[in-house]
Amino acid sequence: MDAYEVIATKLDVREFSSKSVPAEIKRKVLEAARLTQSGSNLQHWRFILVEGKENLKRLAEDSTSGKWVAGADFAVIVLTNPKYSFHMFDGGRATQDMQLAAWNYGVASGVFTGIDRRALARDFGIPDELNPSVVIGFGYPAKRVIGKKNRKPLGDLAFQDKYGKRLAI
Ligand SMILES: Cc1cc2nc3c(=O)[nH]c(=O)nc-3n(C[C@H](O)[C@H](O)[C@H](O)COP(=O)(O)O)c2cc1C
Repeated sequence: MDAYEVIATKLDVREFSSKSVPAEIKRKVLEAARLTQSGSNLQHWRFILVEGKENLKRLAEDSTSGKWVAGADFAVIVLTNPKYSFHMFDGGRATQDMQLAAWNYGVASGVFTGIDRRALARDFGIPDELNPSVVIGFGYPAKRVIGKKNRKPLGDLAFQDKYGKRLAI
């Protein structure tokens, strides 16, 4: 797949097969996060790789909107430093890069932001200065991913030269 195709076909998946994702792919996913740009190249983020049924179950218990992560093959907790106003922006970019890198290998993923922060910090040893911004669950999809994206048309979102002016391309 080329980069556009990866973006165009990637859907959030919350049901995963029991097939294991090879360690090399997991490492590539984390490398994709590491290689992402951050504001002033601060790299204030940290990533926790979560593997194993028990740990994934605990992660699900610490979530308010991501119980499905219990069925993932692995997950990544994205931590960012809230002392930077752009920390969530950076976290979002690293998240997207990880998801796209994974999808290039046929590994699907979903994200959740509903987190019981206190429980997560306790269970995964997160230091006080870092914010658990998002959790990504990864795995091979349980079903073939052939959904259509539910997105607004481009003409509603992008303009020509001036806000509201119709695109000329
Ligand atoms: C900032 C953000 C927060 C999200 N939070 C959750 C969440 O808490 N739980 C969840 O299951 N999905 C969550 N999602 C996934 C979105 O629901 C999903 O990206 C959106 O529905 C589009 O999915 P699609 O690409 O499959 O069409 C979140 C996505 C983003 C970008």
